[in-house]
Amino acid sequence: MPVRVRNIRKKKEKKMATKQDYLKETIQHIDIKQHNVVPFVDSMEKMAFSARDLNRAAKIFDNMLKDKDCTIFLTLAGSIFSAGLKKVVFDLINNNMVDAITSTGALIVDQDFFEALGYKHYIGTPFVDNNELRELAIDRIYDTYIDEDELRVCDETIGKIADSLEKRPYSSREFIYEMGRYLDNNGGPKVEDSVVYAAYKKNIPIFVPAFSDCSAGFGFVMHQTKFPGEHVSIDSAKDFLELTKIKIASKQSGIFMIGGGVPKNFTQDIVVAADLLEGSAEMHKYAIQITVADERDGALSGSTLKEACTWGKVQTSSEQMVYSEATIAMPLIAGYAYHKGSWKNRQGKEFQKLFSSEKIDA
Ligand SMILES: NC(=O)c1ccc[n+]([C@@H]2O[C@H](COP(=O)([O-])OP(=O)(O)OC[C@H]3O[C@@H](n4cnc5c(N)ncnc54)[C@H](O)[C@@H]3O)[C@@H](O)[C@H]2O)c1
Repeated sequence: MPVRVRNIRKKKEKKMATKQDYLKETIQHIDIKQHNVVPFVDSMEKMAFSARDLNRAAKIFDNMLKDKDCTIFLTLAGSIFSAGLKKVVFDLINNNMVDAITSTGALIVDQDFFEALGYKHYIGTPFVDNNELRELAIDRIYDTYIDEDELRVCDETIGKIADSLEKRPYSSREFIYEMGRYLDNNGGPKVEDSVVYAAYKKNIPIFVPAFSDCSAGFGFVMHQTKFPGEHVSIDSAKDFLELTKIKIASKQSGIFMIGGGVPKNFTQDIVVAADLLEGSAEMHKYAIQITVADERDGALSGSTLKEACTWGKVQTSSEQMVYSEATIAMPLIAGYAYHKGSWKNRQGKEFQKLFSSEKIDA
């Protein structure tokens, strides 16, 4: 009897799945404004381990916001926007809780700009037929799906923006500003919570030191093939100089780091660059990092902030590592500082204006 049942099942034709079978339910970005986590995070103070570390990091972020002389650098790595943390950064921007951002390209282009063009990230699962996803042109980030065909529109849009600009080297900051201008000139972003657009409107510079390592790289490959002689290129040394100029223009500085990678090191290194240019520079006074990496391998992403002190980058009085996955820890730390309200006495520093003479048509 069981054999016969198996045979019947075998004879049934396998129904071909479609994209729509997979791309159904969208990722929803968490809204820190809706959840007052202050009592919750305060109660972690008398716990131990990561809870107490998180409590201390949240208080350090609040202290950065209280310190009127402090420029706040936010560094972003990992796939945190496709995971639902985009609106947290959007709210930090709109409430003057951050003054400059250093990020990976995946976050700014493949994930934020992509959603600003009207596309979505979908809830998925890692327990899936990956070959079927490949056949359907669905990309997977752990338990999240993306429509590869839509991502290609994002690549092409970056190429189109590059085609439209004066052919010369740009810092990634300049190019990302042009992405904001593109959204503005084309009816605005298709979503309310675009980080690129909010930063454009609030004059907050965004730097992506490895700009070609994402959807933007595909756009640039197309652009530079189309214009083999003179073309738009990205000058990452210019990025470093511009970010250093922000440090030089600041009395004090603090960094809020999500994950590690290039954005972490780039933003810590501006202290050394400022020291070289000015003869002396204050180390970052405040520093917090959320990361899943630890320090045993000697690599950058898990290197502690106390270790960064030996390199002359971070003071040891107000620093805290939080060993946690960012989707858990970031809403708690950012939500705590949001509901404490110290940002209400803070003015936006509008560092984009520091470079306005270098901007085209601006
Ligand atoms: N992640 C993507 O989906 C993706 C897609 C296209 C291109 N890229 C490119 O790959 C490069 C590296 O990207 P990356 O930032 O994804 O990875 P990464 O591995 O460089 O991240 C750096 C470190 O940050 C920490 N980290 C990352 N995610 C975390 C999380 N959720 N919580 C806590 N800690 C976390 C980890 O310790 C990790 O080693 C960038 O240039 C990016 O543009 C990434």
